Amino acid sequence: MKVIFDTDPGIDDAMALLYLSKLPEIELLGITTVVGNADIATTTRNALFLGEQFGISAPVVQGAGETLDGVVKDEPVIVYGHNGLGDIAIPAVDESGLYPDAASQFIIDSLKAHPGEVTIIAVGRMTNLALALRAAPEVAKLAKQVIIMGGAFGYQGRSGNITPLAEANIHGDPVAADEIFAADWPVVAVGLDVTHDIILDNDYLASLADEAGDNGELLRQMCGHYAKFYREIMGLSGVVGHDLLAVTYALHPEWFEVRRGPVLVIRDGLAAGQTAQMPETRKGGHAAWADRPSQIVCIGVDGPKVLAHYRETV
Ligand code: BDR
Ligand code: CA
Repeated sequence: MKVIFDTDPGIDDAMALLYLSKLPEIELLGITTVVGNADIATTTRNALFLGEQFGISAPVVQGAGETLDGVVKDEPVIVYGHNGLGDIAIPAVDESGLYPDAASQFIIDSLKAHPGEVTIIAVGRMTNLALALRAAPEVAKLAKQVIIMGGAFGYQGRSGNITPLAEANIHGDPVAADEIFAADWPVVAVGLDVTHDIILDNDYLASLADEAGDNGELLRQMCGHYAKFYREIMGLSGVVGHDLLAVTYALHPEWFEVRRGPVLVIRDGLAAGQTAQMPETRKGGHAAWADRPSQIVCIGVDGPKVLAHYRETV
């Protein structure tokens, strides 16, 4: 499976990237970066560092540092630390290998080079994808699938994380996200409705450190800061593996319960970033959803299977 990984590393982004690097079914075409968990220079540096650390040969391609809604958001230092990776020490990276084009151009070129074959797994703000669509709308039809980590649809009674209504990746660029859901390509949203079933507790992280060598230990170190946030602010014992679940969907969609129907995103105001799906059975029930393609939203997942698969893989 040919994959472009669009990311804002990010601790759970790092977990997802390690997973991708170990899956023989995946052919990683490129890692495209976006502003989010840190500024664009930092997320790009982190992607280069992680790529080197995990032995990934695919190029790192720098993407958008500003979002389409034009709203600058505070960096989530409380969640990811100052460097996006839980303030672990990061050695200097070699930036000479950075891909010369912008991420949106890389996405366009890759979709054109492999029509019908490329899966985009996007686990940050959706700015690069929207820029690609604006520049070359025809590429939507060339994508095999777009799997995003994003959204909070109210299934399982779960609401937002950055605001009570919105999930961070969607809230970070609600205009881009809305354009993604409206486009004529198959989108799968792996949102908070399911990612909060994937909790990596201390024992699990310790077992990764024991069994996954240096990379497992690296993840455990990064998670110190992340776990403090979840413990003190969210009242959880462990960390949520949001982004890795988008990778699981690519390989094991049968582990997920899904709902189909058009999706829209509130673009501004107090509810900015709120995601709402009109179930297919009620399509046409309101004009705002009527002209949009049906997309897939994950509403349930077999969490123990996912956690076991992640551990076996990495
Ligand atoms: C999502 O927001 C980012 O901060 C995380 O890396 C994840 O992609 C969770 O809401
Ligand atoms: Ca992310």
